[in-house]
Amino acid sequence: TLITNIATLVTNDPSLGWGSPRSSTFESGGSSPLGLVRDAAVVVEGDRVVWTGSSRKAPATDNRVDVQGRAVLPGFVDSHSHLVFAGDRTEEFHARMSGRPYTAGGIRTTVAATRAATDAELEANLLRYRHEALRQGTTTLETKSGYGLTVEDEARALRLAARHTEEVTYLGAHVVPPEYADDPAGYVDLVTGAMLDACAPHARWIDVFCEKGAFDGDQARAILTAGRQRGLQLRIHANQLTHGPGVRLAVELDAASADHCTHLTDADVDALANSRTVATLLPGAEFSTRAEWPDARRLLDAGVTVALSTDCNPGSSFTSSMPFCIALAVRDMGMTPDEAVWSATAGGAAALRRTDVGRLAPGARADLLVLDAPSHVHLAYRPGVPLVTQVWQGGERVV
Ligand code: NIG
Ligand code: FE
Repeated sequence: TLITNIATLVTNDPSLGWGSPRSSTFESGGSSPLGLVRDAAVVVEGDRVVWTGSSRKAPATDNRVDVQGRAVLPGFVDSHSHLVFAGDRTEEFHARMSGRPYTAGGIRTTVAATRAATDAELEANLLRYRHEALRQGTTTLETKSGYGLTVEDEARALRLAARHTEEVTYLGAHVVPPEYADDPAGYVDLVTGAMLDACAPHARWIDVFCEKGAFDGDQARAILTAGRQRGLQLRIHANQLTHGPGVRLAVELDAASADHCTHLTDADVDALANSRTVATLLPGAEFSTRAEWPDARRLLDAGVTVALSTDCNPGSSFTSSMPFCIALAVRDMGMTPDEAVWSATAGGAAALRRTDVGRLAPGARADLLVLDAPSHVHLAYRPGVPLVTQVWQGGERVV
C-alpha cells in the first residue's frame, strides 16, 4: 500500500530531514528532531513500513491511499497507563478542584471497587479506554496492575491486560493495602514472594510507586531487584509528589524509565543525563491534581531523553489523550512542538526499550496516524480538537 500526498511526514528517522533529538540545532528555526519530509509518501507491506520519502520518488503500487495534504505521524506510544480498574473518583476530583490536595491515599478507593468487580466488568472497562486511546492515535500502550493488591487480584489484572497489549506491568507495589496497614514489611514480602510468582508469567515489566505514603527507597530497591531476578524489566513511579530517592534508584538499577520526574534536584537531572533511563513526563497528572508542572526544558537542556505519556487512571489523570498531553507539554512545560511530538512517539518507544515503534522508517511497524491538519504542530496549536482522522496499526487501518 502506498500512502501518498502527505503534506508533512514525521519519520523520527534522523537520516531523513533535519536534525536529531539531541542535536544542538534543535531549537534554531527550521531544524527538527523529527526527520520531517514534506510532500511525502510511505509504502507499507504486511505489518511493516518498507519505504518512506518524497512522493515524487515513491515506487508504484496497486493500492494507493491519498491523504490529501494531511500530516502523517508514527502512532503514539503511551508508555504509562493504569487501565485495569473499576469505578471512578469523580467525588475526589470534585473535592480537589475545590481545594483538597491529592495524596496517594485515594488509590485505596479504586482498589476496593476493582476487587469487587467481575473479570467481565474489568475487561470491558479496559477495552473501553483502550479504544478511546486508539481513536486518539495511540498504537502502543503500556498498562499496569496495581488496583488489586492481593495475589489473585493482581494476577487477574495482568492476565486481562495481556489479552490486549504486550506491554504489561506488574505494580503490586502501588500502595500498601489496608489489610497490611500495620505490617508494610509483610506486604513487601508478599509483593516479592507469592504475588511475584503469580504475576511474573503475565508481565514484561515491574514498577513501584516510590513516594511518601507508598514505598520508600529501600523497599523499592528490594521489590525491583526481586522482579529483575524473575526476568522482569524495570520502571519506577519516581519524584511525583516530593523529592525522593526514586530517580536515583532508577538510574542505579538501569530502569528503562523514571516516570513523573516532577520534583528533581540537580543531582537527579545529572544522574538521568548520564544514564540510559528515560524521564517520562505525565502532564495529565499535574493538570488533574493542579500541581506544579515538571520542567521538561531543564531535562532536555541537560541532554536527558524525555517521553510523554498519559498516566491514564481514575485518580490522578483520567485522560487517555496523547494529543492533550502534547498540548500541555508545549504550553506549560517548555517543550517545542517538535520535541513534544518526538517524546510522544520515539520517546515513548525508548521508555519501553522498543525500536520497532515510534518511527516510520523501513523495518518499523506500520503503526501510524493521519491528522486532519497539514502539520504535526497543529496538535499543540489546536488544543482539544479531535484532529486524528485515521489510525493504522500493523499495516491495517483500524480507525
Ligand atoms: O501515576 N502515582 C501513582 N499512581 C498513579 C495514581 C493512581 C491513583 O491515584 O489512582 C499515578 O499518578
Ligand atoms: Fe502512574
